[in-house]
Amino acid sequence: MKSILEDIKVLDMTHVWFGPWSTMMLAEMGAEVIKVEPPWGGLGRIPQQGTLYGGASATFHHLNLNKKAIAIDLKNPEGLKIFKELVKKADVVVQNFAPGTMERMGLGYDVLKEVNPKIIYAALSGFGQTGPYATWASYAVIAEAMAGFAKNQGMNVDPEGPPLSMTGAFGDLAPGTMAAMCIVGAIRYRDKTGKGQMIDVAQTDCMVAYQTGITNYLVTGKDELERRAEQEERRKQQQGGGGMMRISGILEVSDGHIHLAGWRPKGMEKLKEVMGVEELEQDAVKEHVKTMTRDEAVKFFSDVGLPVAPVYWASEATKDPHVRARDMFVEIEHPKMGKYEAVNFPVKMSESPGKVTSHAPLLGEHNKQVVMEYLGYTEEQYDELKKKGVMAEGV
Ligand SMILES: CC(C)(COP(=O)(O)OP(=O)(O)OC[C@H]1O[C@@H](n2cnc3c(N)ncnc32)[C@H](O)[C@@H]1OP(=O)(O)O)[C@@H](O)C(=O)NCCC(=O)NCCS
Repeated sequence: MKSILEDIKVLDMTHVWFGPWSTMMLAEMGAEVIKVEPPWGGLGRIPQQGTLYGGASATFHHLNLNKKAIAIDLKNPEGLKIFKELVKKADVVVQNFAPGTMERMGLGYDVLKEVNPKIIYAALSGFGQTGPYATWASYAVIAEAMAGFAKNQGMNVDPEGPPLSMTGAFGDLAPGTMAAMCIVGAIRYRDKTGKGQMIDVAQTDCMVAYQTGITNYLVTGKDELERRAEQEERRKQQQGGGGMMRISGILEVSDGHIHLAGWRPKGMEKLKEVMGVEELEQDAVKEHVKTMTRDEAVKFFSDVGLPVAPVYWASEATKDPHVRARDMFVEIEHPKMGKYEAVNFPVKMSESPGKVTSHAPLLGEHNKQVVMEYLGYTEEQYDELKKKGVMAEGV
């Protein structure tokens, strides 16, 4: 079966989470992604960032599957020359350095489009390449805070309490997915018109776009606190028998918790029937399931048609029979760690499936292959580059 991007070469100058997630999506859809790192290794390979497994952090292993890697000093003129030769052969360049960094290395879009006019150049950053905050460095939490998510998160836990940071790096992975989607779109555009383009993906722009609360404000003119007060009022009326009752949230059971999203009318009617009541009371429902095990409570609510899930640790999710049945894990082999299971590409496509086939690369693991196969260097020339420190392999 063919992969969607099997004829596409990507030069991946990304680090941390945002950029690597984006290029891994392309790699899992079949693109040949060549990760370009400095000879001293990117942030995912330094012990100061946490424990290393096979020379890299667990997060690095999560975010760099299916990629090749070269380690090349781009501040060395010879390294820069090699990189530009690779740009001539590439379809896409992706980078998520702070704005200005690529330009300082002599690798801005204006330079690379001269080298390869069809190149698709995606610049991923916190605030974009233009605007008053363009030069600011950023991580997921920064964009989440700017777009109102930290306030929402805090209000959800305690309306009177402080804002809270979200877990999961939504502010990296969601904009990273957006970047991958637009890169695929730009490839389609290039194939139709012959033109490359610059793609400017800002975490903050994407998080503003993901924030439905913004439209709520723009449509109603009411801020979050006013809307919260209105919601509370409505809820009180409903509890007094005035309308559809919602039973939702995290409920305690005998051996843990379940998460119930009890706002499906059909399911609520069935729940009344099963419990033998005219009206549903949140406390009565809680009481009804309190002594059940987590599995029993999940079965109870899924049987009445209410959306429900066991509240898992991530480690427990890896053991769930449904997640397993959906092929969410795939065994791969790492040169230093041996065999282990990696997370598979999540979306199932009948004709052109994405898949995970190889480990996150070692530093410079594909140096020799890339310079010899793509650029026609000899083994001696490659050894010379290593001797001069222009390229390096990890230990
Ligand atoms: C994440 C971030 C804060 C990290 O900051 P940082 O580690 O100081 O990295 P920068 O992007 O500023 O710069 C990287 C440096 O490595 C150098 N570098 C990178 N690859 C290189 C290579 N192959 N050879 C030589 N030097 C290299 C760059 O030239 C730059 O050096 P400089 O500081 O002398 O200009 C910053 O990159 C950023 O804000 N990125 C955009 C938002 C983002 O993606 N955030 C991460 C979300 S997970």
